[in-house]
This record gives sequence, structure tokens and C-alpha cells, in this order.
Amino acid sequence: MCGIVGYIGKREAYPIILNGLKRLEYRGYDSAGIALYDGSGIQLCKTQGKVSDLEQKVSSHINTTGSLGIGHTRWATHGVPNDINSHPHYSNSGNLVIIHNGIIENYASIKKELLKRGYTFQSDTDTEVLVNLIEEVKKQEDVKLGKAVQIALNQVVGAYAIAVFDKNKPDEIVVAKLGSPLAIGIGEDEFFVASDATPFIEFTNNAIYLEDEEMAIIRLGREVRVRKLKNDKLVDPYIQELKLNLEQIEKGGYDHFMLKEIYEQPSVIKDTYRGRLLAKKGIVKLGGLEDHIQKFVNANRIIIVACGTSWHAGLVAEYIFEDWARVPVEVEYASEFRYRNPIITEKDVVIAISQSGETADTLAAIKLAKQKGAFVYGVCNVVGSTISRETHSGTYTHAGPEIGVASTKAFTTQITVLTMIALRLAKEKGTISQSNYMKHLHELELIPDHVGEALKSDEKIQAIAKVFKDAANFLYLGRGYNFPVALEGALKLKEISYIHAEGYPAAEMKHGPIALIDEQMPVVVIAVNSNHYEKVVSNIEEIKARKGKIIAVVTEGDTTVKELADYIMEVPKTVESLSPLVTTIPLQLLSYHIAVMLGKNVDQPRNLAKSVTVE
Ligand code: G6P
Repeated sequence: MCGIVGYIGKREAYPIILNGLKRLEYRGYDSAGIALYDGSGIQLCKTQGKVSDLEQKVSSHINTTGSLGIGHTRWATHGVPNDINSHPHYSNSGNLVIIHNGIIENYASIKKELLKRGYTFQSDTDTEVLVNLIEEVKKQEDVKLGKAVQIALNQVVGAYAIAVFDKNKPDEIVVAKLGSPLAIGIGEDEFFVASDATPFIEFTNNAIYLEDEEMAIIRLGREVRVRKLKNDKLVDPYIQELKLNLEQIEKGGYDHFMLKEIYEQPSVIKDTYRGRLLAKKGIVKLGGLEDHIQKFVNANRIIIVACGTSWHAGLVAEYIFEDWARVPVEVEYASEFRYRNPIITEKDVVIAISQSGETADTLAAIKLAKQKGAFVYGVCNVVGSTISRETHSGTYTHAGPEIGVASTKAFTTQITVLTMIALRLAKEKGTISQSNYMKHLHELELIPDHVGEALKSDEKIQAIAKVFKDAANFLYLGRGYNFPVALEGALKLKEISYIHAEGYPAAEMKHGPIALIDEQMPVVVIAVNSNHYEKVVSNIEEIKARKGKIIAVVTEGDTTVKELADYIMEVPKTVESLSPLVTTIPLQLLSYHIAVMLGKNVDQPRNLAKSVTVE
């Protein structure tokens, strides 16, 4: 987790770094800090709290002139969030200063050794250990900073993206990465360093994404030198042209990124299938899939690995793949899968789903599956992310940057991609009838309009949110395709409002959660037209009989549930298998409005981070 930013060039570094940190706050926001070279020494300021707290502290504490600097926004791993544990960290001499995203697992043994050699430590962090190890290597081996970083990192076990500079050599920043992302922006006579490209997008469209176990020496007046950490080989770096634009990473008039991202869904779902779904012609064509379709056709089973909301998208996909393509599917939490000694064979296809493409557990699951010979396919949003590079092939969701920590448009675009893969596969295998295939292509094409319609209920949902905002618990129920939507609805509410919520398969409710139901308990039931409609109606009756309050998601024009429910949220009619793409919309809005009414920080909920790069 954590976000890192660096700048070296001719402009004032401070505003660039501060702005960059604000854009990276989704990666962690319990403390922040900055170190600038002011022409004679280092100006360092750090604080517990958000980047805005740092901004305030900086104004009264340090001189902000200078064209070299690094900054950090933290999600605590080692050591509680406080001023001292915040980054950047100095080495003992005060010459070196470092920022770090990741975890140094063997920091304790290195620290012991450094303590013996007389080093002292101010913080509880693994990062302060690393910067002193670099200092010690530099001294002992009498080498330059770049070499010292290389030698030190070869002694380290763990994950890192680091940026470090030496106040005695203020024309260079040394960076390196393993497991955590690091992009270098290449401008004219200036360079940027960041966890992703958003901090420098208005300055340059050219970026190098370091690979794992690579380091770079970024020196003014010279090309960036990239080396392999292990064998010291120089690498010819690939300079990628970025397609991001500033508008995509700004709120665009919405109060929160989450709301903006909810409202973007009609257009981003379209972006996801544009050029890939030609409904009238009966064509689904995904670049990454075509060359590998036989791997899918011949697969004994599909294993889906993911975390969080992406895992919920995987659960929806399980229904779709089994239904149409008649292939057994297992959906695994990546964090469990990687440590379970799972049975994987060369006949398995593993699909890894990740918005960020950086989730540590998902990445580890991919590596394991590859080792065991499986074909691994990625469904990622962030272009060029580690997971998109580590997988054999894949499809991007094209949702654009998702900045709100609670995932919304990533979920619906992931389902869109997975639906297209399943349809393409079913067609290839002949497990779906031509009419059913054509019908689903057509229905998928209509989804953006349906989502747009569903968004029109926003005001009604806001009124429902007002009624239930003070509830202590919520239950979410769904069946079949909409069981994962119930899980996702509950997760959204928990994440941003801190109200306890559980998602459950509606029928399974009788085996436990029904005991929780009383007149205080709001129960959100997804009761749209489906094969289980009557069964869900019975489940609603059971809740009513126990005085639970029903908030039902129903298909437009529904009359049965409308009479039973206390409140309804209507969505347009579509086929059952695609209904998660619309039923999820009112649940996103409900949790959003409740969180806003409770005064919670919707885009940056406590303790969470957008991209979980530690296991
Ligand atoms: C974090 C985020 C979630 C996300 C999950 C998986 O927990 O807060 O929104 O669903 O990580 O992230 P990924 O980037 O792999 O989809």
C-alpha cells in the first residue's frame, strides 16, 4: 500500500509532490510526509493524518523552495500511524532520505546487525532500517548511492517500491521495485516518480514502468538508467505512451469520486464492450482471448482468483460460465488459494480479476498457478499493472481510473468482460443455442441504457437512506445470479458507512441469520424477475412474519413484491444472467447516501486502501 511521489527537474518540486500525493491518497491516508532539497540541505516535514494535514503543517514548518523532492502517503504496516513513523525517513548521518511502499520482511535481523554497528532508530518502521542499511553499505563498500541501493536490496526479503536521494548529490534520485508498482515519468529535463502515473499526467505522457527487481538511476541531464538488481545488467527500458487525461482523475462536479464513478457506469460499460461486442453480427471478439480460445475450450475447469469486490465479480462469473459454457468453475479468495497447496493442473485455466492489477495476494496466486502449469488470464483495469503483465494474456476493463476506495464501476465492467468471455467460449464450444447467444449479445448491448435508467431512482434511494441511516445492522439477500450482488451490497455499506451488514443467499437465511430479524432490522432483498422469483417472495414473507423491514430491488412494473415490501427500488428488466449489472446500482447508491448522511469520508474510508499491495 502507500503512495510515493518524487520529482527532479527545473520546476518547484513541492506543488507537484503535494498534488501527486493527493491523487495517490487512495493508496493509504493515515499519514503523509515530504522531503525537499532546498539548495543547501533537506527540508523534511511529516505528520499523522491526511495530505491536507501535511499541507497545513508544511506552511508553518519548512521552506518549500527546491526542485528535488520526494513525498509519501502511508497505510501503516510496521508501527502505528504517528508523526515519527511517517515517511520520508533519514539515515543516521542525515545524508540520505527515503520513501518506501511495501514491507521489508527481514528488517528485524538487519536492524539487529545495524544496532550492533552503532546505528540508532527513531521509528518502528522497516523503512528506516532499509535506509540505514543503504548508508552502511555505501560506507563499507565505498560506493555511490545507486550501487549501495543495489547491494542493500539484494540482502532484503520483502516487497518494495522505493525512492531515495543523497543531499550531497542533489542531481539524482535512485528508485527500485519488487512487488509494489513504480512509474517514472519522462519530461523534458525533468523526471517524475510515482506509484502510478496520475501524479504526473499533466506534465508528460511518457512513462517507464519498472519491472520487479529493477532499479533506475534518474539523473538530470542524462537518460534514465535501468538495471537488473540481481545481475547488474543494463535494461533498455520501454517508454510507454500514456492515454490518461486529467479530467478522468478529477471529480468533475460530483461531491465524491464514488458518486462520479457510480454515474460513469453507463459510459464505461459501453467503453468496455466497444469494438468487442458486435451484437447485430453475432460477434464477440476480445483481443487477448482469440489466440488462446482453445485453452479455454479444453480446460477441465476454470479457477477464478481475486479479492474483495473483484471476488464478487468472480462469483457472478461462476454462474455465467457454468450456465452457458458448461465448464466447472471455482472461485477462490486469492489469499486462501495461495497458501492452500491447491490442486492445479495444466488443464486448468485460471482467471485473475483485479481492478488495480497490484493486489499482492492475487499476484501471488497467479505466480503459483503459473508454476503449476496453468494458463493464467487477467481481467484488470489498470493498464500496464503488474498483474496485467504477469498473466499469459488478458482483457482490460477500460473503466478508467477508479479513485473512490469502494469499488463500483470496476465491478460492473469486470462482469461485462467476464460475460463476453463466457459468451465467446460458449459459442466456440457450442454449449449455447444460437438464439440464446444472440439474445444475450443484444441484452448486453442494452445494459448501459438500463444502468442509466436505474440511476434515475437516485432521489428515491436517498429518501430510503434517510429512513435507515441509523440502523445498526443490515441484511442483504439474493439468490442465484443475485446472491453475489447481495454480498457486494453488504460490502459497500460496511466499507463506507461502518454499519455492520451481511450478505446471504436468501434461502440460507433460515439457517442462522433469521434469528437476527426483528423490527429494527432492515433487510435488502434482490427480488427481480428470475427463475427464483416465487422463492424469493416466500423469503420476503418469512422476513415480514418476523417484523423485519423490507427494502426490495424489483423489476420495473412488479406488483407482488411492491405490496409486500416497505420500500422498493426499481430497476429495468433484463435477462436474469445480466441482472447483476443493474441490481447492483441501487445498492451502490444506498450505501453512498447512508455514508454521506452519517458524515463519513466516502472516498477514503477508515483503515482501507484502494490497492492492497501487502498480504
Ligand atoms: C481493496 C479495495 C477493494 C478491492 C480489493 C481488490 O480491498 O478496497 O475495493 O475490491 O482491494 O482489489 P483489486 O485491485 O485486486 O481489484
